[in-house]
Amino acid sequence: MKIDTRALRNAFGNFVTGVTLVTTVGEDGKAIAMTANSFSSVSLDPPMVLWCIDKGSDRLGIFESAEHFAVNVLAANHQELSGRFAKKGQPYMDGVEYTMWETGSPIITDAVAIFDCDKVAAHDAGDHIIYVGKVRKFGAPDTAGKPLAFHRGAYCALA
Ligand SMILES: Cc1cc2nc3c(=O)[nH]c(=O)nc-3n(C[C@H](O)[C@H](O)[C@H](O)COP(=O)(O)O)c2cc1C
Repeated sequence: MKIDTRALRNAFGNFVTGVTLVTTVGEDGKAIAMTANSFSSVSLDPPMVLWCIDKGSDRLGIFESAEHFAVNVLAANHQELSGRFAKKGQPYMDGVEYTMWETGSPIITDAVAIFDCDKVAAHDAGDHIIYVGKVRKFGAPDTAGKPLAFHRGAYCALA
C-alpha cells in the first residue's frame, strides 16, 4: 500500500489522547516545556513511561542532553498553556508557576497527573525519537479537574 502521509496523519488523529507538557532544564539552567500528546504509560514494575519527539523540533537538542524529564498531564483549563508550548521557538517557562520534585524537572501546578522521570532510553523511530523514562516520583491529586483531550487536531471536552 502506498502511504498517503496526510491521510495517515488524519487516521492517527482519530485516536483520542490527553495532552501533556513535557518539561526539563537545559544545560543553561533554563526550564523548558513542550506540548506532547505522544505520551504513553509503559510498565508498572519497574514504573516506565514514554513520549516521542519530532526530529525536526528545535527542542530536540535540549531533550537529547537532558538526563531527566517530567510529564505534566494537562487539565481541561490548560488549553492556553498547551498552545503556548506548541509554538516554535518559545520553549522557556518564564511566568509559568512550577516547583521541582526529585529530578529537578519543572512540575506545573494543577496538572491532573505528574510523572517525574529519569531518561533511561532513547530509540530511533523514523522521523521521531522515543524517550523512555523511569518514574522516580508521581502524583495525581484527588482535587484535579478533568483532563484536556485532543482529537482530530482540536481540543475537546470529556463528557
Ligand atoms: C496537542 C499537541 C500535541 C503535540 N504532541 C507532540 C509530540 O508528542 N511530539 C512532538 O514532537 N511534537 C508534538 N507537538 C508539537 C510540538 O509541541 C511543537 O512542534 C513544538 O513545540 C514546536 O516547537 P520547536 O520546533 O521549537 O520545538 C504537539 C502539538 C500539539 C498542539
